[in-house]
Amino acid sequence: MAYTKPKIVILATGGTIAGSIDTSVATTGYTAGVVSADALIQAVPQIKNLAKISTQQIANIDSSNMTDEIQLKLAKEINKLFTSGIDGIVITHGTDTMEETAYFLNLTIKSNKPVVLVGAMRPSTAMSADGPKNLYNAVALAADTLSKDRDVMVAMNDKIQSARGVVKTHCLNVDAFSSPNFGDLGYITDGQVFFCNNITKKTQKKSPFDVSKLTELPKVDILYTYSNDGGAVAAKAFVADGAKGLVIAGSGSGNIHQNQKKVLKELLKEGVNIAISSRVVAGRVVVSKADAKLGFISAEDLNPQKARILLALALTKTNNPKKIQEYFLKY
Ligand code: SIN
Repeated sequence: MAYTKPKIVILATGGTIAGSIDTSVATTGYTAGVVSADALIQAVPQIKNLAKISTQQIANIDSSNMTDEIQLKLAKEINKLFTSGIDGIVITHGTDTMEETAYFLNLTIKSNKPVVLVGAMRPSTAMSADGPKNLYNAVALAADTLSKDRDVMVAMNDKIQSARGVVKTHCLNVDAFSSPNFGDLGYITDGQVFFCNNITKKTQKKSPFDVSKLTELPKVDILYTYSNDGGAVAAKAFVADGAKGLVIAGSGSGNIHQNQKKVLKELLKEGVNIAISSRVVAGRVVVSKADAKLGFISAEDLNPQKARILLALALTKTNNPKKIQEYFLKY
């Protein structure tokens, strides 16, 4: 029987993988998000051996400028593509906010087919650019039958990470991603995919969040706590500016300086939903019974930037902190 190559769509959004500068020595100071999707795949003609490839330019930005609008556009486009016979999706993305988009898609894609995000730490013009190999790996991963029925994944530096677990843990090194709470899902070697781990919180298809009719998300902002915390001022300002929810990057297992916490308790009474995450890289936030009674929500093991995504999606369904807490426990 003739082998039919899987149909993979590459959705390009920009990032360093599409970055450029006029010297091959530079790995900083370049402009991210300038090279087109088609130019990216021209640099890796070998991917045509793995799959039938088509491309779409969704955006071309530095991902530090990522918006709810672009993430919604991506989710809607991917859900549409999966109803039209596409076998897998690869998204080229800046690494700065890759974990946020990956987690957003994990909560909003209604398919068990593979979705893989990929980027690069060195611009396309750099000596030893990592983009082409990462892109080759990402296509191999999206094209592999073993990749079905899994979370949205990130393919960087020969490693496979889950959307829920993955965190950017280095500013500059090509080995910039790891999953402190979960470990790597697997590896890609010379185009061959190896899984060695299964992620626990399965969300694709089972997620209750339907973004098909949404054009915006409730505003949720993030506050840090720190010695001599002055965040109370910022908390009030965020709410005055329309925030419906706040995520606190707490210290330790979710503690908040009393200066800030006093004001947060007042905001809870006004109906603002507040999820407590942690500044610490690994572990899980514990909210005391007394604080839960006041309405504080534990973001569990989600870091603040991913907790923001889940809180915003949760607020499209309910304002009830108890119900929102259930989402944090489940997804
Ligand atoms: C970006 O996130 O768009 C720039 C940084 C990178 O991709 O590594």
